[in-house]
Formats: sequence, structure tokens, C-alpha cells
Amino acid sequence: MIRVLGIETSCDETAASVVVLREGDAPEILSNVVLSQIEDHAAFGGVVPEIAARAHVEALDGIVEAALADAGVDLAAVDAVAATAGPGLVGGLIVGLMTAKAVASAAGKPLLAINHLEGHALTARLTDGLRFPYLLLLVSGGHTQIVLVRGVGDYQRWATTIDDALGEAFDKTAKMLGLPYPGGPNVEKTAKGGDPTRFAFPRPMKGSAQPDFSFAGLKTAVRQAASAAAPLSDRDVADICASFQAAVSDALADRVGRCLQRFRETFPDIGTPVLVIAGGVAANREIRASLEAQCREHGFRFIAPPHELCTDNAAMIAWAGIERLRAGLAGGDAFAFVPRSRW
Ligand code: KG4
Ligand code: ZN
Repeated sequence: MIRVLGIETSCDETAASVVVLREGDAPEILSNVVLSQIEDHAAFGGVVPEIAARAHVEALDGIVEAALADAGVDLAAVDAVAATAGPGLVGGLIVGLMTAKAVASAAGKPLLAINHLEGHALTARLTDGLRFPYLLLLVSGGHTQIVLVRGVGDYQRWATTIDDALGEAFDKTAKMLGLPYPGGPNVEKTAKGGDPTRFAFPRPMKGSAQPDFSFAGLKTAVRQAASAAAPLSDRDVADICASFQAAVSDALADRVGRCLQRFRETFPDIGTPVLVIAGGVAANREIRASLEAQCREHGFRFIAPPHELCTDNAAMIAWAGIERLRAGLAGGDAFAFVPRSRW
């Protein structure tokens, strides 16, 4: 049996979780505590790093205690402590990793410095017991990537954004239209009553042989449409949101389709390959539907873990710790590890 305490503080969620893997059994999330700082940042229209770091300092001890209490274990019953050590906002990373170092050293437990992206990449093995290899589409406020997940610690990035992350494009679009932060859910809600064909926004990179994403041009097109139609009626805002979402779904499906094709060519013997989606944007119903259609067309199975495990959480960090321990990849001296904002 391996039981790991995970800590996540790389952006604006303060999170702790205990996950256990028992011999011959599916893993179990014993607790998953997440404190969102959305309200602390809303007035600024985005995450303010200094505010985030301070909020993590204030909250983290209590969140760790709550995660242990919810799991019904004390520190002595934990085999290791795993903390996000990058990439992310460096203030938050310092708070999380230093806390993990303190907790692990006080309890005499091993420490694991985990890459946040590895946490997202391995979540589908926690929730669905997925086997390697599979494709991951990570779409959050900070990342837009397609990654080939070949094994624990064995990842290959097949596509990334050359400018904005997709969540960022949603957030900026919302801001331009006067919708509150965080933009993604509000754009989706507003788009429901809109006409997706009214504005012919560009489908960035569609048809390009290069696999990458780009959203800056789309953002500019939204800004131009918004200023041309100003003053904006509710109808205009809804139509812009719907047209933006349609453009994004279409562009995303095109980019993903290319990688599905490449996966087929790389692994011709896998009967039903899998695409996993992660990140906050995975909540978007239209994007999901368009990806599902793309997967059907290519004969892929589409897996979207439960929303609370798609967005930032510490269960994925604890699980990545378990995966690393099990694979004998605990890494070097994590107590000497310095947080990496880029990793
Ligand atoms: O993964 P996440 O919770 O945090 C990180 O960025 O790490 O992702 C947050 C992002 C934000 O940009 C938010 O606007 C976007 O995910 N998002 C959405 C939706 N819900 C959240 N974007 C589009 N549609 C949604 N329903
Ligand atoms: Zn994330």
C-alpha cells in the first residue's frame, strides 16, 4: 500500500489531498480539498501573483490539516509528501514546496517534487486506470498543449500554443466584452443565446501542417468586432461569444485531429486509442462535443475526468507521487529542489 499527501499551489487554488493505492486495487482519493482564490482576484480581472502567494500562505496549513482530517489519517500514516514544484507562479510554488519540505522533514517522510503538468498528464490513470500510451489535450489558463503520454516521466509534446493559452483567450474575450472574471464559464453561458454564424472569426492555424495552436489573432478579431459594433447590446455580446466559441471549437478540433492521425501512424497496433482532456477549459460543453465528434471520426475513445480533477487539484499531485514511487522514479534529493516557474 502507498499513501501520499499531495500539495498544489502553483496558481490560484490552494489544495491538499490524500490518495492511497492498495495492492491489487484501484487507487482511492481519500480527501481532495481545494480552496479557490477566484474572489480574491476577480476585482483585478485576472490572477495577481502577489495576492495569490499571500493567500496560499494564509490558507495552506489549514488546508493540509483538513485533507488529513477528511482522509481520517495523521501524518504518521502517510508514506510520502508530494508537492507541485513547477511550472507556475513562483510565489505560490515556494509556499507549497517549503510547506511540504517542513511537513515531510518533521514527520520523517520522503518528499517528491512534482511537475504540475505531470499531475494533469497522469490523472486519467487515477480515474480510469488508463494504460500507456495515450494522448493528452491540456487546455487551461496557462497551458494549451497536446502531449503524448508514453509512461511515467516519459512525455513528448506534440503541439503547444505559439501565443496565448486557450483559457487566457476566453478570459481576455470576456474582459473585452465586460463579462466578469473568470471569463471561460461566463463566455460559455452568454454564448448560449447567441448566433455563432454572425461573426466570421478566423480559425487560427486551421489546415496548417505545423501542429501548434495560436489564439492571438482570434483575440484581435474579437476586439475589432467589439469596437465596430459598439455600443454593444446584449444581443451583440451573445453573438460575439457564440461566434468566438464556434471559432475556438473548430480550430481546436482541427489541431487535435492532426495529432490523432499522427498517433494512429505512430501506434498502428492500438485498436482503440485514447484522447484525454484536462484543464479548466475542459468544462466547456461545446468544446467537449466538438472533440468527441473528432474522436469518433478517428476511432478514438474520449475521456474527460470529472471536472474537479480536470482543474487544478492536489489529488493529481499525490497520484503523480504514487506513480513515481511505484516506478522507482522518486527523483533526487527533493529537499534541495528549488521551485521552477518554468519547467
Ligand atoms: O485549469 P484551470 O482551472 O487553472 C489553470 O489555468 O491552471 O483553468 C482555468 C481556465 C480559465 O482561463 C477559465 O476561464 C477557463 O479555464 N475555463 C473555461 C470554462 N471554465 C473554465 N473556459 C471555457 N469554458 C468554460 N466553461
Ligand atoms: Zn493546471
